[in-house]
Amino acid sequence: MELEHADPVRARRRRVLITGAGGQLGRALQQAFAADDVVALTHADWDVTQPPSNSLLQGDFDLVLHTAAWTDVDGAEADPQGAAAVNVAGTAHAASLRVPLVTYSTDYVFDGRKRSPYVESDGPNPMSAYGRTKLHGEAAAGHQAWVIRTAWLFGSTGRNFLRTMLRLAAEREEVAVVDDQRGCPTFVGHLAEATREFVDADLARGLWHVAADGECTWADFAEAIFEEAGLDTRVRRIETAALERSAPRPAYSVLRSERDGAPRLPHWREGIRACLAQMDG
Ligand SMILES: NC(=O)c1ccc[n+]([C@@H]2O[C@H](COP(=O)([O-])OP(=O)(O)OC[C@H]3O[C@@H](n4cnc5c(N)ncnc54)[C@H](OP(=O)(O)O)[C@@H]3O)[C@@H](O)[C@H]2O)c1
Repeated sequence: MELEHADPVRARRRRVLITGAGGQLGRALQQAFAADDVVALTHADWDVTQPPSNSLLQGDFDLVLHTAAWTDVDGAEADPQGAAAVNVAGTAHAASLRVPLVTYSTDYVFDGRKRSPYVESDGPNPMSAYGRTKLHGEAAAGHQAWVIRTAWLFGSTGRNFLRTMLRLAAEREEVAVVDDQRGCPTFVGHLAEATREFVDADLARGLWHVAADGECTWADFAEAIFEEAGLDTRVRRIETAALERSAPRPAYSVLRSERDGAPRLPHWREGIRACLAQMDG
């Protein structure tokens, strides 16, 4: 007798809903959860500022991976209500499906005054409208959610720093990059794998810091990208103030976990290598 087919619940593949599926993390999660029965909804498929439709409510999901978000940090200063509609109301709508939920938050909930890594018990104090909406979004996810705070995401698709640097390197010999913000550049592929291990291990619900190992400034990150890509583009180190961006950023936002069993991600430089390999493949 084939015991593994005797239980109809166990025979069924896990049904996973991904919101924001067109984004860089949403795409990486589709790969990491490829063995599951994945329903990947882009912005066009479900605008999360709207409540879930009846068909979504009846979707019989086992897990929701909520990546849909307003991620335009400077744009949120001009339209904080628009950002809140996605990051707060949108997260409440994802939670209203009443299915185990993973939602993602940010190092920008911190003010950056610390000089040692931020852990889960550190008090948040966001400096920007984006950071405030993400912090409220954490609360909107509810106590039963896994809230994963991560940082400086990059991947082989979408809008991100690594892709911007490669584009600029094709146009110029030198790029000016800020050297007074420190964080953990995190490859979405590594974060997506860690998310899968996380839910497979059924770690405790609540807040978790999950970001790449190591730390650096944006200028260090840019130099490493050029090195790993075999480019001789130079990096000119500048201060944040020179960019005159509308949203303030924390000067220091390195994330580490103080919780037992927290997933440990590869070093950010490994992330660059994995990302470039994915782009070549
Ligand atoms: N990027 C980072 O550096 C970073 C750092 C820390 C935490 N996070 C968090 O990590 C998560 C994933 O970020 P990401 O880097 O993958 O962002 P992303 O590439 O910008 O993807 C976000 C996705 O959400 C979609 N979206 C925006 N408004 C929506 C709406 N109203 N309804 C449905 N979908 C909507 C976007 O679609 P359109 O583009 O079509 O609007 C996009 O596909 C977010 O929660 C973000 O706050 C990101």
